[in-house]
Amino acid sequence: MKEFVKLVIDGKELTLPVIEGSEGEKAIDIRSLRQETGYITFDPGFGNSGTCRSTITYMDGEKGILRYRGVPIEQLAEQSTFVETAFLLIAGHLPSREELTRTSVYLNDFSPLHENMKAFYQNYPPKAHPMGILSAMVNAMRSFYPELLDIEEDMNKTYLRLISKIRTMSAMAYRISLGEKVVYPRPDLCYCANFLNMMFDGVVVPYRIDDDMVRALNVFWILHADHEQNCSTTAVRVVGSGKVNIYSAISAGISALWGPLHGGANQAVVNMLEEIHKDGMTVKECISKAKDPNDPFRLYGFGHRVYKTHDPRAKIMKKMCDILLAKTKRKDPLLDIVQKLEETALNDSYFKEKNLYPNVDFYSGIVLRAMGIPTNMFTVMFAIGRLPGWIAQWKEDVADPEMRISRPRQVYTGNQLQEYIPVDDRG
Ligand code: ACO
Repeated sequence: MKEFVKLVIDGKELTLPVIEGSEGEKAIDIRSLRQETGYITFDPGFGNSGTCRSTITYMDGEKGILRYRGVPIEQLAEQSTFVETAFLLIAGHLPSREELTRTSVYLNDFSPLHENMKAFYQNYPPKAHPMGILSAMVNAMRSFYPELLDIEEDMNKTYLRLISKIRTMSAMAYRISLGEKVVYPRPDLCYCANFLNMMFDGVVVPYRIDDDMVRALNVFWILHADHEQNCSTTAVRVVGSGKVNIYSAISAGISALWGPLHGGANQAVVNMLEEIHKDGMTVKECISKAKDPNDPFRLYGFGHRVYKTHDPRAKIMKKMCDILLAKTKRKDPLLDIVQKLEETALNDSYFKEKNLYPNVDFYSGIVLRAMGIPTNMFTVMFAIGRLPGWIAQWKEDVADPEMRISRPRQVYTGNQLQEYIPVDDRG
């Protein structure tokens, strides 16, 4: 039976329908509110606002649940590959063997980069952040690959072109920043192995592709592949709602991800740990700085808008951390610090009262360090992983008959009407 809520404004009663999701989540449909009453709702940061119906990702922040198209993240991390998970997110179902093979063939075919695009890299300043380069390069793809036909099969090729080329572009950015020769993708290697080879062949000598590292990279990217309406995904949807091309919408998502409160937190965590390691700050000082309301510093890698318990991705990431460090027989001094910070924060009343737990970024930096990924590439690693989610969300948005151009309202609190005074009369 359809449910309604009643809202009384200025003595006038308004009946609003309730929308219920497939897992029982409820939303009040306020689309008629302004027209009927002249009022709008006020919700900075959209903490209480649903902006779309979505069939892609389900999260329960109280129970620590994350599922892509209904499949638990734990099962995907254990048994799937990044390419298969990307297919699941974008197509909405797990691929058949034949679909998976076809996807791999396209990913191989699309992996080289347009020769003229390579020239861009040479002209960036040597210390340019790879996220800035990546965002610009993805936007530039619209000019180099203009064939965006409105036919589903061609759009599928566009999605795969993006997924394939972002990997080549990212590895290339790293090598050029080192002054190293670019390594081209190899058709005999799978998606993750190819990336590692493009990054490290000739930089690590001799370089051998390690199956455990390939598996770890698959898991890392699966964990990042989608997270419903977060900051960067909302950026993709908002920018896409103006009907701009997909490359520009994804480029906006990359820019949004870069910030330290979002995907840039993985780099911020390691910077924070390094500062403690170099005696720039103690664990205690770090925790007090994070708690000080007058200090903008935060305990990076802690807290989440949705999760009010352990982030299920953080649990898997922590396990991976142990496995990789045991395998490489490396003792990462930052691991002890991260563990001490976690223990201190979880036992501190400030973090307990505010339900602040480790998020995916708390341990991801240690995992990436164990893979040999340099710190300034961390957020790029996140972006490669998140790409299938952005594509799936963009695709859902443009096909949704309910969607309109994103155009929120505001409560104006500026000056009331005042007369213009010419500059010479202003005193
Ligand atoms: N360290 C210290 N205090 C924190 C932290 C933190 N990491 N996170 C939240 N708080 C405090 C806030 O100061 C606020 O306190 P107040 O109620 O006294 O004002 C309270 O907890 C609620 O925090 P908000 O910022 O209002 O929560 P919001 O949902 O807006 O922000 C966010 C979530 C941005 C993730 C926040 O927890 C944070 O800044 N974390 C650190 C950065 C980080 O790790 N980001 C990655 C998130 S996961 C991802 O995007 C991939």
